Amino acid sequence: MPNPPSTPLIEIVDLTKVYKMGTVEVHALRGVSLTIQPGEYVAIVGASGSGKSTLMNMLGLLDQPTDGIYRVRGTESQKLGKKALSDLRNREIGFVFQRFNLLARATAMRQVELPLFYAGISVRKSKEMATGALTRVGLGDRTHHRPEELSGGQQQRVAIARAIVNQPSLLLADEPTGALDSQTGEEILTLFEELHSQGLTLIVVTHDPDVAGRAHRVITMRDGLILEDVQQVPSRPAPAPGGDASVTPVAQPTPDIQPIPGAQPRVILETAGEVAV
Ligand SMILES: Nc1ncnc2c1ncn2[C@@H]1O[C@H](COP(=O)(O)OP(=O)(O)OP(=O)(O)O)[C@@H](O)[C@H]1O
Ligand SMILES: [Mg+2]
Repeated sequence: MPNPPSTPLIEIVDLTKVYKMGTVEVHALRGVSLTIQPGEYVAIVGASGSGKSTLMNMLGLLDQPTDGIYRVRGTESQKLGKKALSDLRNREIGFVFQRFNLLARATAMRQVELPLFYAGISVRKSKEMATGALTRVGLGDRTHHRPEELSGGQQQRVAIARAIVNQPSLLLADEPTGALDSQTGEEILTLFEELHSQGLTLIVVTHDPDVAGRAHRVITMRDGLILEDVQQVPSRPAPAPGGDASVTPVAQPTPDIQPIPGAQPRVILETAGEVAV
C-alpha cells in the first residue's frame, strides 16, 4: 500500500548508541531526534567524535541503536528481521564514503553491478542498470577502467554510481569530498546538486563549511546530541581561481546526468550565498 505523501522518509526519536569497550562505555549518541522529509538536502557537521558517523551508521541501517526508535517511511526498523532489514537498506539507501571503498581490481562496471548481484538481479539487467548509473554520473566512457586508472574524483563518481544504481530514496555520504582537492570536490557537489534536483534525498557529513553551505539544512552535533538544526539558503559554488564569479566555475564538463524515472524534478534555489535567518 503506498504511503501517504506526508510520511517522513526518516524519523528517529530519542536514539542512543552506547559502545562497550571492555568495562568502558562510550555514549556516542545520547538521545537524538530527527525527521527528514523526502527530497531534503541535509548537512551534518560537528567536531570530531561528536557522533556524526555513528548517526550515519544508524540512518543507513548499518548498525543497531542501543535505544530509541528509527522509522524509514513509517517502518520501524527495530521490528524487522535481518532479511527485511537488508531488503529495506538495499531498496532505500545508498552510501558514499570518504575513501571511496572500491574494490582494487574491479572495473567501474563491476563495482556498480555488485549490489545488483546481491539483490538477485539478472546479469543482463544488471549491466543495463550499471551502465545507466555510470552514465548518470558522467562516466559512461570509463566503464572498463579500474580504480588505479581513474582520478580521485572519478573514483568517487563510481562510488556514487554504485550507491544510486538501485535507485534508493536516500543517499548518505560521510565526508564525500574529504579525500579530494577542492576543484574535484566541487564536481562531486555539482553532481549531488543534480541528483538532488532529480528527487534524491541527501544527507552529507562534512567538516568543510563550504560543503555544508551547499545543503538546504544544517544539523550541528555536539557530544552525541543535536546542538542546532537550521534551514538555510544554499550557497552557490565557489568561484574558480581567477575566474568570473558569475560563471559556473566547474572546470570539467558537467556530467551527462539522466533523470531518475518517475522522480519529481525539484527546483534548486538561486541564492545570494547567505544563510537564511
Ligand atoms: N566502533 C566503535 N567502538 C567504540 N567506540 C566508538 C566506535 N565508533 C565510534 N566510537 C566512539 O564514539 C564517539 C563518536 O564517534 P563518531 O565516529 O561517530 O564521531 P564523528 O563525529 O564521526 O567523528 P569524526 O569527525 O572524527 O569522523 C567517539 O567518541 C568514538 O571514539
Ligand atoms: Mg566520522
